[in-house]
Amino acid sequence: MSILEMMNEEVIIPARYKAMTAEQMETRIKEIKESFGTRLYIPGHHYQKDEVIQFADDTGDSLRLAQLSANNNLAEYIVFCGVHFMAETADILTNENQKVILPDMRAGCSMADMANLHQTEKAWVALQELFGDTMIPLTYVNSTAEIKAFCGKHEGATVTSSNAQKMVQWALTQKERIFFLPDQHLGRNTAFDLGIPLEEMAIWDPEVEKLEYDGDINRIKVILWKGYCSVHEKFTVENIKQMRNEYPGITIIVHPECSHEVVQLADFAGSTNYIIDKLKEAEPNSIWAVGTEMNLVNRLAKIHDNKQVYSLNPNMCPCLTMNRIDLPHLLWALESIEKGNPINEITVDKEIARYAVLAVERMLERA
Ligand code: 13P
Ligand code: SF4
Repeated sequence: MSILEMMNEEVIIPARYKAMTAEQMETRIKEIKESFGTRLYIPGHHYQKDEVIQFADDTGDSLRLAQLSANNNLAEYIVFCGVHFMAETADILTNENQKVILPDMRAGCSMADMANLHQTEKAWVALQELFGDTMIPLTYVNSTAEIKAFCGKHEGATVTSSNAQKMVQWALTQKERIFFLPDQHLGRNTAFDLGIPLEEMAIWDPEVEKLEYDGDINRIKVILWKGYCSVHEKFTVENIKQMRNEYPGITIIVHPECSHEVVQLADFAGSTNYIIDKLKEAEPNSIWAVGTEMNLVNRLAKIHDNKQVYSLNPNMCPCLTMNRIDLPHLLWALESIEKGNPINEITVDKEIARYAVLAVERMLERA
């Protein structure tokens, strides 16, 4: 089911949560967490709001949260504070008795929605006509379970921003070419760092069902799906120039979902965990501009009050869907569990999960 279909089916949060104060909600959340103990597990992605992250049992980037979910067989309820594809991945990796709950069904990922199975199967047929049996599919975990299953079925794997280099290197030992979904930027930035020139990369445009490339088609090694993250695309070369002008000596660090031009001009690029670690190691009084989601940038600025930490884009870039998860929705999810009637359970179809798990496990074995 697509996010849009689920949004149509969503159940609206009862009005009484809107009438509660933050303190009242926090007290109830603490009570429920205490009473459930290890039967309840709350993973939180780094982009979540502080009001939610304070209740996370573990925080992490996509890779760490997938690993933690795979290793947790104690929790009966996993209340995933992140977006839909992360909750799906948790469901794929946990056992049948564990329920995964997303506090707000509207917490999707616009990038994941840029590749559906129908489009992907059509692209695969068209690309096979051009390249024969020389391709292996890799999908960024920011994709639907169906796309992960497609990759699993075709001997491919998932990747995260933490292990994309390793996975692309592995994939190129399996086949001559990679079909990389759905984020063109992560695919391009990763392949480029591994020494693959831009002329050896092409873009598959699912709207017009056409391969875009310059030069010799036989040299193409990486086929990039024309998807992107609308949050990270907002960081521009102009932002970098302005920051460097305003703060001489500034260090610029960005997420690899930013465009190739931005990543090339930045000093460092890496996953949310990588960004957090770099800021931790940074010298006191150093100046940083960070190109990623605003909740994380604000948190880093608060934690490192002996350093200057700014958003690379002064207008800040929120991920609206991540921000759907808030105190009222977290409490609503927890109270529904307490009542024995959990809301918003994420259940990946068994047949899809059977293949999707192959793709995710191929990654976890090598991550
Ligand atoms: P990380 O894997 O770096 O946490 O990124 C996830 C994400 O959605 C970035 O937009
Ligand atoms: Fe998706 Fe971008 Fe939000 Fe990450 S920041 S969850 S890629 S929309």
